[in-house]
Amino acid sequence: MTLHETTTAQFQERFGEAPAHIVRAPGRVNLLGEHVDYNDGFVLPAAIDRATWLSFSSSDTDQTSLVALDLAEEVSFTPKTLSAKTDAAGNPLPGWALYPAGVMWALQEAGLGTPALKGVYASNVPQGSGLSSSASVEMAFALAWQTLGGWQRSPMERALLGQKAENHYVGVNCGIMDQFASACGEQDRLLYLDCRSLEWQTLPLPNDVAIVIADTRMRRRLTSGEYNKRRADCEEAVRILSAKLPGIKSLRDVSVETFNQHASELPERVEKRARHVVEEIERSVRAIPLLGQGDMLEFGRLLNRCHASLRDLYEVSIPELDTMVDVAQSLAGCYGARLTGAGFGGCTVNLVAREQADAFSGALAAGYEEETGFSPEIYICSASRGAELI
Ligand code: GLA
Repeated sequence: MTLHETTTAQFQERFGEAPAHIVRAPGRVNLLGEHVDYNDGFVLPAAIDRATWLSFSSSDTDQTSLVALDLAEEVSFTPKTLSAKTDAAGNPLPGWALYPAGVMWALQEAGLGTPALKGVYASNVPQGSGLSSSASVEMAFALAWQTLGGWQRSPMERALLGQKAENHYVGVNCGIMDQFASACGEQDRLLYLDCRSLEWQTLPLPNDVAIVIADTRMRRRLTSGEYNKRRADCEEAVRILSAKLPGIKSLRDVSVETFNQHASELPERVEKRARHVVEEIERSVRAIPLLGQGDMLEFGRLLNRCHASLRDLYEVSIPELDTMVDVAQSLAGCYGARLTGAGFGGCTVNLVAREQADAFSGALAAGYEEETGFSPEIYICSASRGAELI
């Protein structure tokens, strides 16, 4: 059964009628520009062919009642209990419910209608895997409330509302990349976003290249704390550097050359974090003409350097991710490999010659299992459309 069918059937069973609507909102994979979105940099993600599916109807009570099939859990909340982050009975909302409730909160803050809904949802974006399962949930609910609320916002505006929910309700100080990719994805296209101006375009990936996602099966630990600390280090770097470089607003405003001249003014840890960011922004800018020229060898080298930098400077890798990347980089047909997303567990992204992608996937699975004893999940992914009403 597809998730479309499952959520529909379960809705019918739970609420005794067919759902009025179904939305689908994808996860994302990021090729380059990691941990730069909250530094006003450039990112190069794609929406993937794994998604959250939500079957829903409006409710005739004031309660929004949601069933999360993957967790076999259910919650109900009302606009009145939202700011206290409690369910309708006054108990604290479970962690997973903060995402839909946060979206309702952000939409209300923006003055947008959020009629009570009943919904059943499920996802095949693995949680804690670096593929933005939370953004896909947020974008599914933003679109659901747009459908019931009778208002219209652009995909980018809905992405910003989802980011607001995550920053101010869930408490993760994330950037805009994940919600953007989930909302704005296009079939078979990469997305290129300037996280300062929010201007974006789509780019083709050459036909003879495959994006292979490799899941270490290690789920992220301690993320929000470590993630928020990385962000604070970047802000600290800007604060110190602006004494000598007045007018800089973020690390985006500091070139690698300028950074090198001032690096010694920063405490060691802050210097490493900021160096990753300024060099990664440069890598993501350099990647665009390489894509146009089809220079996958050089493009892949940028991915490899990105991984080394995330491992050594930004320190967001874990041994299993490093193993997955090392094995991949030694295999035929692999242009480049690196961890994707926030890090601390989850998946790697691999750019592979399409005709070798099957052999690569098999060899990568075998090599990783031999080194770690864990059996990974590896799949060739295609870029998909963003959140949509089906
Ligand atoms: C998470 C955040 C994004 C981005 C990435 C790292 O996925 O949600 O905003 O910062 O980490 O690039």
